Amino acid sequence: MFDSKGRNIHYLRLSVTDLCNLRCRYCMPDGVDKLEREDILTYEEFLRLAALFARCGVDTVRVTGGEPLVRKGVEQLVRGLKAIPGIRKVTMTTNAVLLEQQLPALLEAGLDSVNISLDTLDPALFAKITARDEFAAVQAGIHAALESGIPVKLNCVPQVGVNEGELEALAALAQDKPLQVRFIEMMPIGYGAAMPCISGPELLARFRRRWPELVPLPGAACAALGDGPAVYYTVPGWKGDIGFIAAVHGKFCASCNRVRLTSQGFLRPCLASEAGCDLKALLRSGASDEELLTAIRTTIWEKPQEHHFELKQDIPATRGMYRIGG
Ligand code: GTP
Ligand code: 5AD
Ligand code: SF4
Repeated sequence: MFDSKGRNIHYLRLSVTDLCNLRCRYCMPDGVDKLEREDILTYEEFLRLAALFARCGVDTVRVTGGEPLVRKGVEQLVRGLKAIPGIRKVTMTTNAVLLEQQLPALLEAGLDSVNISLDTLDPALFAKITARDEFAAVQAGIHAALESGIPVKLNCVPQVGVNEGELEALAALAQDKPLQVRFIEMMPIGYGAAMPCISGPELLARFRRRWPELVPLPGAACAALGDGPAVYYTVPGWKGDIGFIAAVHGKFCASCNRVRLTSQGFLRPCLASEAGCDLKALLRSGASDEELLTAIRTTIWEKPQEHHFELKQDIPATRGMYRIGG
């Protein structure tokens, strides 16, 4: 369906858990609170709501977390989502720690692609950024995904003074691997708010010095790689591409196509605003499908126009990305 700003909203991000097996400093550092189990939607509840979103025009669902693979049986959710009439594509964003082990079941359930977070190729730095020693498991997960033939993208958040020296090496993975390595501007959400951001244009200029032949992919080729806000570049002869998600400096809100459902069943029409609707409360008070549909349509219609990251005013400082799912 269209929102009041004329944007076609057809992409739902489902955060299935607030738990994670890593503790990235900008997302979910050690010591954060966990939600109570009964506050988290069951898979049945997610599937009921997802079917209603599909009736509103949602055709793509991305499963996120926290880390989605720490929630038991997530492949059953993927299977259930794929069976909903109107849902074309089900994808996942994961840190890949558990991917090698769970990939066969996910593929069997029909998962269409994976986006994997990776901020460094240095095992010691990985342990520093994530506060966990899981680099080898992540490498195995990426390798397994590439071997399986499922489309793979890597997500790196450049961090000033932390992984700045790693960025070319990460980008260079696209030289002989058929994947997209994307660089995401640090958004001032949750713990990321305290950290400076390296802008997409700044990074592109840096990569151009290293690879002067870097050329942008045409819009249609970018669109074929995903329904998200990334723009892509490549070097002739490379197997993969480099992407930029300039969430702060390249505001892409005018073409936004998505809403988010948190693991607590809160429908959040914009990543950068706390506005939304408590669908779990409605669901658990016995609302009918029609009542839920009205709530979903109203919330989508009222989706905020854009973020105001530059003002840092409406960003929930106490609620990290791990509760929203990116
Ligand atoms: P593709 O369809 O594969 O391109 O997925 P995606 O980039 O939309 O999803 P992913 O989960 O990999 O997100 C990558 C980064 O983009 C994360 O940091 C997200 O928070 C950010 N992101 C995704 N969608 C939005 C959005 O609508 N607004 C903003 N500001 N950031 C977004
Ligand atoms: N800004 C930008 N990206 C972020 N992520 C988590 N927190 C932030 C932030 N503040 C990224 C993760 C993951 C994706 C879902 O969101 O690294 O790749
Ligand atoms: Fe969409 Fe909000 Fe992200 Fe802008 S900040 S692209 S409106 S989700």
